[in-house]
Amino acid sequence: REQQVIDTNCITLTRFVLEEQRKYPQATGDLTQLLNAILTAIKAISSAVRKAGIHQLYGISGSSNATGDTVKKLDVLSNDLFINMLSSSYTCSALVSEENENIIHVEDKYLGKYIVCFDPLDGSSNIDCLVSIGSIFAIYRKDTPGPATAQDILQPGNKLICAGYSLYGSATMVVLSLGQGVNGFMYDPAIGEFLLTERNMKIKPRGKIYSLNEGYEMYWDAATREYVNSKKRPESGKPYGARYIGSMVADVHRTICYGGIFMYPATSEAPKGKLRLLYEANPMSFIVEQAGGMAINGMQRILDIHPTAIHERCAVFMGSKDDVQDVAELYKKHG
Ligand code: AHM
Ligand code: MG
Repeated sequence: REQQVIDTNCITLTRFVLEEQRKYPQATGDLTQLLNAILTAIKAISSAVRKAGIHQLYGISGSSNATGDTVKKLDVLSNDLFINMLSSSYTCSALVSEENENIIHVEDKYLGKYIVCFDPLDGSSNIDCLVSIGSIFAIYRKDTPGPATAQDILQPGNKLICAGYSLYGSATMVVLSLGQGVNGFMYDPAIGEFLLTERNMKIKPRGKIYSLNEGYEMYWDAATREYVNSKKRPESGKPYGARYIGSMVADVHRTICYGGIFMYPATSEAPKGKLRLLYEANPMSFIVEQAGGMAINGMQRILDIHPTAIHERCAVFMGSKDDVQDVAELYKKHG
């Protein structure tokens, strides 16, 4: 008998979301439509990241393509894809992108009820050297009628409807939460679909890995310093291992899969850290919490922060609950 290579009853991401949305009688299908727009962008970004169509990306000279046009940088291409797919999906009223200084307002004829904040291609320092990078998105509902105002957009993370990320690693994966746990979908290039491969992802309560940029040690505060030191020179037991890719999506994905803690602390140079609240810290915190983990800025739960500006920054400690709890206690101690 011939071996079956294609699962004829596979659960695609779209099928999964459709089924989830059925649980809410008031659901219109708009969120499914919105996610499909994002998936189109992610598939195209994944293809570009993997240098598919290499002749078009490089041509023979290396910097321009076959027709002599300068090739769009991957981050610009990714941003254009997110903006174009979302703003024509009839589901959004406003968008916030890491790459755009101002709020992007959707044309009247395309208006919908959602607000999406995204980082189209995160891990800028890893783009050109083929190290894993990712895209991050956060979806909110707009509460008031009419055009989106700053107030509609500056919602705390605890109001999120859905958040997800795509990781362009050794494979492309989308990890998604609609507020009922976390599920992972591996991209199958053979059929061009994301298939449910990780059902109900959970983070271990304690891990064995810490992850932060240790080069900035001289700028750390006392709590971060004491925490990292306690992992490297524990009073009892073995020290934690260290891993740091420098792409938040990849570092957090590993933290969800293996346990441990990912940190981008405040430093004396950057008193609110580096990562952005709306499209980096909040969506990743939502997913980590939905997977049973914890996410704080040191003193406070990240999802409870009320943003005051679209590009505001936020210190980040996220991952296994007990590991993050240890950090929280040190912040209490150091005040
Ligand atoms: P980016 O948005 O410019 O790519 O910066 C965000 C990235 C994160 O993915 C990562 O966690 C962090 O920057 C790494 O920063 P550093 O190089 O300071 O360790
Ligand atoms: Mg970024």
